Amino acid sequence: MRRGSIVQLVVLGTIIGAASAAVALLIPWLPPAASVERDRIDVVFWVVTTICMAIFSLVAAVSIYSILKFRARPDDDSDGPPIHGHTGLEIAWTAVPAVLVTIIAVVSGIELARNDTVPANAMTVQVTAQQFAWKFQYPHDGNVISPVLRLPLHKPVNLKLQSLDVIHSFWVPEFGQKQDAVPGLTTHLVITPTKLGTFPLICTELCGLGHALMRSQAVVMTPSKFAAWVKAAKQGTSAGAGGKSVFAANGCSSCHTFKPAGATGKIGPDLDNLSQYAQKAGKPLQAFIQQSIVDPNAYIAPGYSANVMPSTFGTLPKSQLDALVAFLSGSGKKGGT
Ligand code: CUA
Repeated sequence: MRRGSIVQLVVLGTIIGAASAAVALLIPWLPPAASVERDRIDVVFWVVTTICMAIFSLVAAVSIYSILKFRARPDDDSDGPPIHGHTGLEIAWTAVPAVLVTIIAVVSGIELARNDTVPANAMTVQVTAQQFAWKFQYPHDGNVISPVLRLPLHKPVNLKLQSLDVIHSFWVPEFGQKQDAVPGLTTHLVITPTKLGTFPLICTELCGLGHALMRSQAVVMTPSKFAAWVKAAKQGTSAGAGGKSVFAANGCSSCHTFKPAGATGKIGPDLDNLSQYAQKAGKPLQAFIQQSIVDPNAYIAPGYSANVMPSTFGTLPKSQLDALVAFLSGSGKKGGT
């Protein structure tokens, strides 16, 4: 009789455990992992999930068994027997969760500490966030700048994040971690890519009108392709940055439409109509463009709000600013200055 009950409970628990394991394993809940750090986080995730599935199976099996076995018959109006506790059971249901929570704490602590350690051979990438664009600068590679995060495969990188205006947050789901970019602070994040490919790079902190558009890409390349890209980017820089590359590197396209750059942003005014805006503002075209970049609130196009465009572009080096003005005014065909 007693043994029969235990067999029934074990059979129920096994069926429930198999069903929940199937739901956990057969459905791709998370994007594929593409970094060493993400693999460590997944270890913690699976330890916790396995513990949860085991407890769920036990609780669900006992509940279903009790509902079927001990429910009151329609003609049964009597009270249940008085129960005064069970010391052995109480010790067990206190001790077992204490052990499980300790296991979770220790595993999490170890993996998070490993993710936070900057390996000695790590390469640094300076990440600058601003409404509403990302900029990536490579101090070990001649300070080349890119609007997308390019990384060599299997090389640990230490991202140093800064924000020029409000709080943004860096997130590549396949790399498994998020890190805030906070004005006035430098935060850091270590990534060791394990898969070639292009992954979405998302701002995951509500930062203003263009938050949903504050996206870029993380491109993981073979080390030789990365070296070739650095070389080409360095040559581009030393030849004097063309206006088009300044436009791309500063993320102008995430807010503005501008056909020569293939940009289709809708947050700010359409830059294909700059000469009309200049006329309304009563200024010569190039002077108007320069002013609008350095002091965006000097003239606000009808239908747009002040203080949306960051004034931080005024800190661009003069050569880049001139190239950008030339590009936007349509007189930049002869190349950079
Ligand atoms: Cu930057 Cu949201």
